[in-house]
Amino acid sequence: MDGTTYLADYTPYPFNIDKVSLRFRLAPHATRVQAHIAMTPLSPGAALRLDGEQLRLISAAIDGVALTPSDYLITPSGMTIHPAALPEAPFTLETEVEIAPEGNTALEGLYMSNGMYCTQCEAEGFRKITYYPDRPDVMAPFSVRIEGDLPVLLSNGNPVASGPGWAEWDDPWPKPAYLFALVAGDLVAHSGSFTTASGREVALNIFVRPGDEDRCAFALGALQRSMKWDEEAYGREYDLDIFNIVAVDDFNMGAMENKGLNIFNSKLVLASPETATDTDYERIEAVIAHEYFHNWTGNRITCRDWFQLCLKEGLTVFRDQSFIADMRLGPVKRIEDVIALRARQFREDQGPLAHPPRPDHYREINNFYTATVYEKGAEVVGMLRTLVGDEGYRKALDLYFERHDGQACTIEDWIKVFEDSSGRDLGQFKRWYTDAGTPRLRVTDDYADDTYTLTFEQHTPPTPGQPHKAPRHMPIAVGLLSPNGNEVVPTTVLEMTEARQSFTFTGLSTRPVPSILRNFSAPAVLERATSAAEQAFLLAHDTDPFNRWEAARSLARQTLMDMTKGAPPAAEYLDAIGRLLADDTADPAFRALILRLPGEDEIAQALHASGTTPDPEAIHAARGALMTTLAQRHEVALSATYESMAVPGAYTPDAAPAGCRSLRLAALALLSQIDGARRAEALFASADNMTESLSALSNLITAGKAEGALAQFRSRWKDVRLVMDKWFLVQASLCPPKTAAERVTTLAADPAFEWKNPNRFRSLLGAFSANHAGFHRADGAGYRFYADWLIRLDPLNPQTAARMSTAFETWPRYDKTRQALVRTELERIASSDGLSRDLSEMTARLLG
Ligand code: ARG
Ligand code: ZN
Repeated sequence: MDGTTYLADYTPYPFNIDKVSLRFRLAPHATRVQAHIAMTPLSPGAALRLDGEQLRLISAAIDGVALTPSDYLITPSGMTIHPAALPEAPFTLETEVEIAPEGNTALEGLYMSNGMYCTQCEAEGFRKITYYPDRPDVMAPFSVRIEGDLPVLLSNGNPVASGPGWAEWDDPWPKPAYLFALVAGDLVAHSGSFTTASGREVALNIFVRPGDEDRCAFALGALQRSMKWDEEAYGREYDLDIFNIVAVDDFNMGAMENKGLNIFNSKLVLASPETATDTDYERIEAVIAHEYFHNWTGNRITCRDWFQLCLKEGLTVFRDQSFIADMRLGPVKRIEDVIALRARQFREDQGPLAHPPRPDHYREINNFYTATVYEKGAEVVGMLRTLVGDEGYRKALDLYFERHDGQACTIEDWIKVFEDSSGRDLGQFKRWYTDAGTPRLRVTDDYADDTYTLTFEQHTPPTPGQPHKAPRHMPIAVGLLSPNGNEVVPTTVLEMTEARQSFTFTGLSTRPVPSILRNFSAPAVLERATSAAEQAFLLAHDTDPFNRWEAARSLARQTLMDMTKGAPPAAEYLDAIGRLLADDTADPAFRALILRLPGEDEIAQALHASGTTPDPEAIHAARGALMTTLAQRHEVALSATYESMAVPGAYTPDAAPAGCRSLRLAALALLSQIDGARRAEALFASADNMTESLSALSNLITAGKAEGALAQFRSRWKDVRLVMDKWFLVQASLCPPKTAAERVTTLAADPAFEWKNPNRFRSLLGAFSANHAGFHRADGAGYRFYADWLIRLDPLNPQTAARMSTAFETWPRYDKTRQALVRTELERIASSDGLSRDLSEMTARLLG
């Protein structure tokens, strides 16, 4: 396809960049950027190709001599200086350009948010700031001078000097341009410090808008915990004198790891008990850690090209997941991560957007910041650790840092580090990086003469561009239980490499019950005919907490699938939930996870995988019916749980009280089905924290009794943007599906719907697409509403519009009528005037 970039076409840049000095003279409509770039030609006779978009060139000179227009060529994508105009020896290129941050609604490059200047350069935003080789394998030290009439002027590295209206920064560590950052604004800092293992003191600041400074303490603590953990778990110390975080209200993504100056979506920084939920707190801690961990996995060692994105993202997600597992309850964290992986990545793999963790072509790289690159990338790192063991993993990572510090690397470099440190051949394992799709793992078993045999067959369904898949090297963690519930074979990692392979266990006097894929040791779909009785047995007896939960989850999923076809709820499932509620030895957070039913999209995914066309209304009805049945059947125990899990005293976001709240609120969701939402009403009136308040409000919406509460919530929180986002979100995601399209249409007309703010847009549109039966309403009203808004957003903010188009990725699952309705909308989007490259690539892939 035209405009496509291919992995196979990689060539090194023919110049070395020795040093970059930038000077910014800030003005909303006419910011001047002077760049002073010292470079050395590496390949005589090569033209100097610089990326640059939406720049107005004021001047250009080499070694102090002005270039004339015949020395270079300017196109909408950059500038090429002819070889004849270039010295053969090292030289300095000086340019000056003008840019307009105020009009930058794409939120890429230098833009403005509420009067504050900020940048977002990953992946290719630096080219909207100045002419430069905007590619990650070009690394250089930067120094920056900022001039602007604002109290806080920040860039990467260490502060050098400042005065009224100016500041200078110096970053000694060579970095690619995507890690450049600049912030200027009327900001206040919540400050602290950290002393590194070798005794250096690092100043820490969280910069926010005045008025927000009392919601920064948790983020600062999370940063300090992350810095300590990275020293202990990976031996990685911080390497500058200062570490700054800035919270920005208008941001396309979660956060960005710019060297020494992380920029965050304010929703991932600001938290107080009254405004943030337990989930928000956990997410803030994870993302603060994630961006901090990038300092080593991403910044000190970066990517050669954007195809290698999962080199830094998969590894860094793996690191933040391990960190949270250490800070909180490990098994609970693992279960939460797998729920998210299935909901987002398995879903991606099942549809037209499936791609490998390392893709080999793209039109717009921003479309590849996906669950596959991030979350599946993390699973692949986890499998490597399982294969080489904890010590082997630490050895490999030590070698990675030692060998590659300061370099821009590939997945091949990464795998080689594991091969060299472990002596193993990982050639077949590499397919996890290059092949798309979720493997299906069919299991059969056999028992004879004290020998138990497990036979696995692996098969990965076709994905776009990859019709046939070779078998993968898969670590399958297995344990065996005796029928009386004792573990007779502890966790053993089987290494599957063939399409079909058997493993035997000898010396077993009775036929055991297998516990397969413990701790979800490989991101595969297990296909095994298991009885509900066996699932209930594993839920009761498995020593692996993940597989205990998994047993309950499969029971619930199967029950719901059967219910959509008219079957009554499975007795085994209802009984198992009763036993679990009575089991005070199980952790509350763990019990809460078991009590929460799979979401409607997960049920649709499972139905589709089993060859049934999902019916969104039937799924919605079945889920509601099962909740009601559970509530009726276990009312006494649920009510007791609701009371006993109330957390006394002041709110803290710690894992233990959050776990109690989670169980309490899971019970509330069920009880609200049968108590006329009486408890939810009372809780809404009395709650002193957002976790309970929002959960109470959600139940009131589901019960159709929320109008008063919604008005009250709104009048209390109308001036707090992040909380108003929640006001939109709960309505769009939970309102009755039959009238959801009308409801979101009304919400979109509300003056508080500031649709140019990505958080607000996602709170309405993203939440609506999660209202499964509402979005997939049979008459297509949901699809039409959604497409209208993508078309409207795209000219302003292509990145967010493209990302949100993934709501349509599941269309091949549904019936022919819905498929046709979605196609109509996708074709309507595709034929919109001036469609962005971002969204046009997405619609093309979605349409297949
Ligand atoms: N590197 C950032 C992170 O993972 C995300 C940047 C995303 N940027 C983008 N244009 N999609 O933490
Ligand atoms: Zn990241």
